[in-house]
Amino acid sequence: MEKRRKIFEVKHLQKYYFTQQKQQLKAVDDVSFDIYEGETLGIVGESGCGKTTCGKTCLGMVDKTGGEVLFLGKDVHAMNRKEHFEFTKKVQMVFQDPYASLDPHQKVYQIIAEGIQIHKIAKNKKEEEKLVFELLEMVGLNVEHAARNVHEFSGGQRQRIGIARALSVNPEFLFCDEPISALDVSIQAQIINLLMKLQKERNLTMLFIAHDLSIVKHISDRIGVMYLGKMVELTRSDMLYANPKHPYTQALLSAIPIADPDESKKKEKVMLAGDVPSPLNPPKGCRFAGRCQHCMEICKTADPNMVEVEEGHFVACHLY
Ligand SMILES: Nc1ncnc2c1ncn2[C@@H]1O[C@H](COP(=O)(O)OP(=O)(O)OP(=O)(O)O)[C@@H](O)[C@H]1O
Ligand SMILES: [Mg+2]
Repeated sequence: MEKRRKIFEVKHLQKYYFTQQKQQLKAVDDVSFDIYEGETLGIVGESGCGKTTCGKTCLGMVDKTGGEVLFLGKDVHAMNRKEHFEFTKKVQMVFQDPYASLDPHQKVYQIIAEGIQIHKIAKNKKEEEKLVFELLEMVGLNVEHAARNVHEFSGGQRQRIGIARALSVNPEFLFCDEPISALDVSIQAQIINLLMKLQKERNLTMLFIAHDLSIVKHISDRIGVMYLGKMVELTRSDMLYANPKHPYTQALLSAIPIADPDESKKKEKVMLAGDVPSPLNPPKGCRFAGRCQHCMEICKTADPNMVEVEEGHFVACHLY
């Protein structure tokens, strides 16, 4: 693999919450990965497995409990004010719910111009206007939309506004936390295509979170699969689909419907038994053991480490 610049280096990251009953909840527990310049890393896993917490901790939006997150070599959780201000320009986010993340009473213009103003990107009002109009066009909206209130727009249009806002400061990195899951299915592909187009044009690096593998397939260069606070598999997208190693990944993949009935018949269905255990009281050993059809004695006592099973393909499972 060619040597590429690492934008993020995440090492043994932990984020524990405490519930009101003072119970420890291990939302992210010893997760390590890198994100390389220009790539899209997808993270998938069931609800509550820690995807959002992982992303937010990487962005310094929540404190970490342990481990380290480096952005271009700098510790995200130990930046001074000036460094943090620069960081907020280079790193932007597109949120899951464009209804909750945009103030419905604000004008579209003001929403997109805010970052430009904070970071003093435009020399004067005229240049600011030009930038806002360019951004609107770039995301498939038009100049007339600038003067309207957000509440006049549909979910898909709001997400376009959210993307324009994120890109207004010309970031290097975009964190997309389930940016299409609140949208109509008919609109989802449009937003995915828009993000892919913008990523290419602007050489963006992206972290893209989704519930299931069918969504991240097209947009991700590499995919990490999370289960109950752990990363259980991480590899190139094509390798993950062609040769999934972790029993949990295999189960996730077999849950994706296949349009072609012949292909569908060939595919072996791997069913998931039982429910996701609680992160409040995660099982000893491998957290997936209780639902795994290959469970061995060692799985019930020892937590498996991530090992590289082929080049660039990492799995945390005692089978390997
Ligand atoms: N602020 C918080 N305080 C306490 N617990 C939290 C907090 N935020 C998240 N959690 C818990 O941490 C775990 C991971 O949550 P997180 O939101 O990161 O999961 P997720 O994978 O993003 O789920 P989803 O797919 O539903 O968005 C969950 O058990 C959740 O209840
Ligand atoms: Mg989430």
